[in-house]
Amino acid sequence: MKKTVKDYIRTIADFPHEGILFRDVTSLFADARGFRMAVDQLLHPYAGERIDKVVGLEARGFILGGAIAHQLTKGFVPIRKKGKLPGAVISQAYTLEYGEAVMEMHDDALQPGERVLIVDDLLATGGTCEAGIRLCERLGAEIVGCAFVVDLPELGGRKLLERLGMSVHVLCE
Ligand code: PRP
Ligand code: ADE
Repeated sequence: MKKTVKDYIRTIADFPHEGILFRDVTSLFADARGFRMAVDQLLHPYAGERIDKVVGLEARGFILGGAIAHQLTKGFVPIRKKGKLPGAVISQAYTLEYGEAVMEMHDDALQPGERVLIVDDLLATGGTCEAGIRLCERLGAEIVGCAFVVDLPELGGRKLLERLGMSVHVLCE
């Protein structure tokens, strides 16, 4: 039977902490067919939509977002953990499934009215993506959608993002 995106994702128990089932997409990225399938499927709902920039969330959102931006021939904008970007930044605190952190974006990375697609590998509590949404909106960008390879529905991220008015696209749960 034809493999699906989900078939390429492996699960590693107790990483990074005991009790966490880590959904590891490096095995998906390492397979040419799997990676192509994921990029194509992430873009599928946005065919015909105007997208000006692709925004990727550190770290695995960079891998997917870079490939998607290349496919669309659009620019790529990274949202990074605190202290990694060299220019002037705007910052947004957020809560993770296992901790707290701050995300940052260059303050000139997006122009008001630009339409952006936010991309990451995995949606858990939605805290990381919510921080990304707030950063994009603070620069006046319009969010076309938030696209993920994996959703962990029991952690409520999709519901949170939908409550914020986002269109959420996931490839598997
Ligand atoms: C993971 C994942 C998402 C985020 C999702 O990244 O890649 O970015 O968690 O969790 P949330 O929906 O609860 O916010 P992580 O924070 O582990 O960082 P990394 O990509 O730098 O390893
Ligand atoms: N980020 C947050 N929770 C995760 C999980 N269970 N697997 C992979 N990445 C995650």
